[in-house]
Amino acid sequence: MFSFKKNKRERILPKHIAIIMDGNGRWAKKRSLPRSAGHIAGAKTFKNIARYCNKIGLEYLTVYAFSTENWKRPKEEVENIMNLLRDYLKDAENFKDENIKVKFIGNLEPLAEDIKELIKKDEDGSKDATGLNLNIAINYGGRDEITNAVKKIVAEGISQSEITEQTISDRLYTKGQPDPDFIIRPSGEYRLSNYLIWQSAYAEYWFSDVLWPDFKPKHLEKAIDDYNNRNRRFGGV
Ligand code: IPE
Ligand code: IPE
Ligand code: MG
Repeated sequence: MFSFKKNKRERILPKHIAIIMDGNGRWAKKRSLPRSAGHIAGAKTFKNIARYCNKIGLEYLTVYAFSTENWKRPKEEVENIMNLLRDYLKDAENFKDENIKVKFIGNLEPLAEDIKELIKKDEDGSKDATGLNLNIAINYGGRDEITNAVKKIVAEGISQSEITEQTISDRLYTKGQPDPDFIIRPSGEYRLSNYLIWQSAYAEYWFSDVLWPDFKPKHLEKAIDDYNNRNRRFGGV
């Protein structure tokens, strides 16, 4: 009796994938549901995809959950999103057993006190995890992040001649982390919407018409396959 083991498909996994979780509202509209139902469905997809990324051994995943511009939305929608964040944070025990290290990036200052406490608890509780590093971007804006970095540089009294690109990178929320190699945006929009604008200077981009609540591991697999066909030159030949 012979048994042949199938060779595992050789592929390069990006070190850091960043996802713009977009299309919740349109997903709900298509089903004649309130936008909040789209956000609930999107939150489920988020957990599913984060678990999947951890399972396949991804090192870093950064998800865009709420931008500095999203405060422009109707008060009720902002409240719905904040309540979903609360629910997620209260339920964060789930991820703990999965060895996922959670970090929140963005200007957390304007968030409600209880949310800030829950965030701290979640980060502290998962700080020793050695699996996926999961960054959740809340009240995040790339320009806001760079503006804050500049303020810190000035406040620290760093002189002009000392400033390098690293000086700036070290003052971003993603300090110490590798830049994203691969940015995924579902929902048919072809823009960054102020996401990781410094960090993604040399990232590869992948767009899809799938709305975020419909996004499945198979879509991520397709994206990673496509990533493997990219030729990253970084300005070289
Ligand atoms: C993404 O889905 C969630 C957030 C921005 C908070 P949207 O709510 O932007 O969904 P669309 O783009 O309106 O479909
Ligand atoms: C980007 O989506 C922000 C998040 C997914 C959290 P938006 O829906 O806010 O972006 P725009 O308005 O289409 O650019
Ligand atoms: Mg949107």
